Amino acid sequence: MAGNSDRYVIRELKEEEVGQVFDMLLEFADYLKASVSNTQDALQRDLFGDTKRCYCLVAECIVDGVYKNQLAGYSLYFPAYNSFTGAILHINDFFVRDKYRGNGVGMLLYQAVAKKAIDLDCQAVDLLVRPSNKKATEFYERMGAVNHTEGVGRHRMRLTRIRMEDLVKTKPFDLANCVSNDL
Ligand SMILES: CC(C)(COP(=O)(O)OP(=O)(O)OC[C@H]1O[C@@H](n2cnc3c(N)ncnc32)[C@H](O)[C@@H]1OP(=O)(O)O)[C@@H](O)C(=O)NCCC(=O)NCCS
Repeated sequence: MAGNSDRYVIRELKEEEVGQVFDMLLEFADYLKASVSNTQDALQRDLFGDTKRCYCLVAECIVDGVYKNQLAGYSLYFPAYNSFTGAILHINDFFVRDKYRGNGVGMLLYQAVAKKAIDLDCQAVDLLVRPSNKKATEFYERMGAVNHTEGVGRHRMRLTRIRMEDLVKTKPFDLANCVSNDL
């Protein structure tokens, strides 16, 4: 358990802390019984490289008023877009370490992401939660989120990297004459 006098601040991740976030990511995957094929180097590049693909807020635990670089949780998110509604902030990871749970850290972190979304003029904050993850679902509902999938009844369709590569090799597709590489 975290101590009673502990306090928490939510702030941007620093580059030198990517290793700590990667450790939390592995704890998160373990909690979900999911496998991780991403690497710490790739995460570092995608968070802090020339092409930023994602962003991260961390919750830092302050023990007896002292900053000890103890990270209690993190949220990794990126901007998305829905042409029907406008800009969206999509949360990919939302995790509070076991010993810090039940102290309001998750709420602080979720509030901070909501504040980011408002500052970026986003119309929604989205995330996917497994139906079996009842605790997290209840947490998001208490925070005011609604089950959008139930409402709109859509399925997420994923084309994995290997299937992408197969698809673009299929004739008569000709990349050179079809699309530019600018996103
Ligand atoms: C879901 C999760 C992020 C919630 O984080 P958390 O820090 O435990 O959440 P909070 O402490 O803000 O809120 C949890 C509970 O503590 C209560 N609480 C809030 N502030 C509190 C405080 N200062 N003191 C005591 N309890 C408090 C909340 O009311 C809430 O009540 P509940 O027991 O009815 O759930 C966390 O449990 C977690 O990381 N789970 C594992 C990973 C996961 O499932 N992530 C989501 C994947 S989509």
